[in-house]
Amino acid sequence: MVIERGKHVQGDKGDKERRKDDVCDEGRKNHQGGRERGAGGAEHDDVEIVRVVLSRLLKSKQKAPPMREYRIAAIPGDGIGAEVIAAGVKVLALCAERDGAFRLRFDHFDWGSDYYKQHGVMMPANGLDLIRSHDAIYFGAVGAPDVPDHVTLWGLRLAICQPFDQYANVRPTRVLPGITSPLRHVGGSELDWVIVRENSEGEYAGVGGRVHRGLPQEVATEVAVFTRAGVTRIMRFAFALARSRPRKRITVVTKSNAQRHGMVMWDEIAGEVAAEFPDVTADKMLVDAMTMRMVLRPETLDTIVATNLHADILSDLAAALAGSLGLAPTANLNPERAFPSMFEPIHGSAFDIAGRGIANPIASFWSGSMMLEHLGQKSAAARLLRAIERATADKSLHTPDLGGTATTEQVTNAVCAALAGDNA
Ligand code: NAI
Ligand code: MG
Repeated sequence: MVIERGKHVQGDKGDKERRKDDVCDEGRKNHQGGRERGAGGAEHDDVEIVRVVLSRLLKSKQKAPPMREYRIAAIPGDGIGAEVIAAGVKVLALCAERDGAFRLRFDHFDWGSDYYKQHGVMMPANGLDLIRSHDAIYFGAVGAPDVPDHVTLWGLRLAICQPFDQYANVRPTRVLPGITSPLRHVGGSELDWVIVRENSEGEYAGVGGRVHRGLPQEVATEVAVFTRAGVTRIMRFAFALARSRPRKRITVVTKSNAQRHGMVMWDEIAGEVAAEFPDVTADKMLVDAMTMRMVLRPETLDTIVATNLHADILSDLAAALAGSLGLAPTANLNPERAFPSMFEPIHGSAFDIAGRGIANPIASFWSGSMMLEHLGQKSAAARLLRAIERATADKSLHTPDLGGTATTEQVTNAVCAALAGDNA
């Protein structure tokens, strides 16, 4: 594109411009000719200067640290996943360029429902090996109307999260500038949460089966699996996160009145871990009552830790209370960094709006900001968040899910412009 433009300008040079270039060339030739003919000493000086400058340049090159490059596996998936990840890649690339201290190299993988229709699998058998050594994964969404949801979810998203042990699913929720919460008593700061979802076991452990398939006596079991190791690590992660936030407050969500094995162990371990964090204030809520508290007293909550299923449900509610599912980001973290972590909007492939160019890309941008933070690029992450907030503050940039008429492209361009203009 740039080269094309350069060519065009050169091709369009007028006669006057061309004559000026010719005169300059002639002048350079004469100057060199003059030097060749006379002053040998001056020529020697010139050579010396060039030598010194070159050696300094070489030294400064050697000293400069190599620019950090991160390899990102981009998996857009299905429906609006493809639209918001394309927008996110554009914004993130600009964000890196604007920062100047690092580069992002995106490798794109076309896995998803179309891939499934062609190959019978959501990703190739060696899929995990292809992305194992990437620094992070930037994921869109999976789900197609003509492929069963459990096939798409287990075939791709869970097929990455579980073997890569991304056990901490972090979901920040707050009301961004310019966004109206459906809660009439919430102006903004009253709702500022981070939900930590156990992401490796519990109700989504995948344990169970069906017998007597298709017969009247058919039985299906779905076994929730809670391990002491799994619960302890998510509790420690959540309490540490709560400690890092100003209010140092955590709510442990449970259902231990009805589920008397796994959930009772969950509560016991929460109590043990709470003792390790005496500076964090902890309380406990049954999941059904928690939905009410989120709606009626949002200001009493800060960090929330819940099981795979409970947090899945609560975080869609949280997203809606903060304005739209189209704004909600998430990080699937392997905190030990033995495997790449995965960053994605919470929403799905949204068949109802796919292909119309109206998906809200903010959730994927915010997820991108979380990815930059995870990679250690904190100032770039903060710059991207500021650009997002500038876009949401402008109601003319609200997509239809927020009651506006803006397109994905308009929001993307506005965030790019805000990034370019941010000199903080
Ligand atoms: P969904 O999240 O795709 O959509 C729910 C509603 O929110 C729809 O009305 C949709 O238009 C709207 N919405 C979602 N994201 C939006 C955005 N960025 N901008 C504007 N509006 C947005 O959930 P749904 O409809 O239950 O599921 C559709 C498919 O997505 C299913 O196949 C489901 O299994 C899959 N899914 C995949 C997920 C993933 O890959 N992580 C997560 C949730 C659902
Ligand atoms: Mg969900």
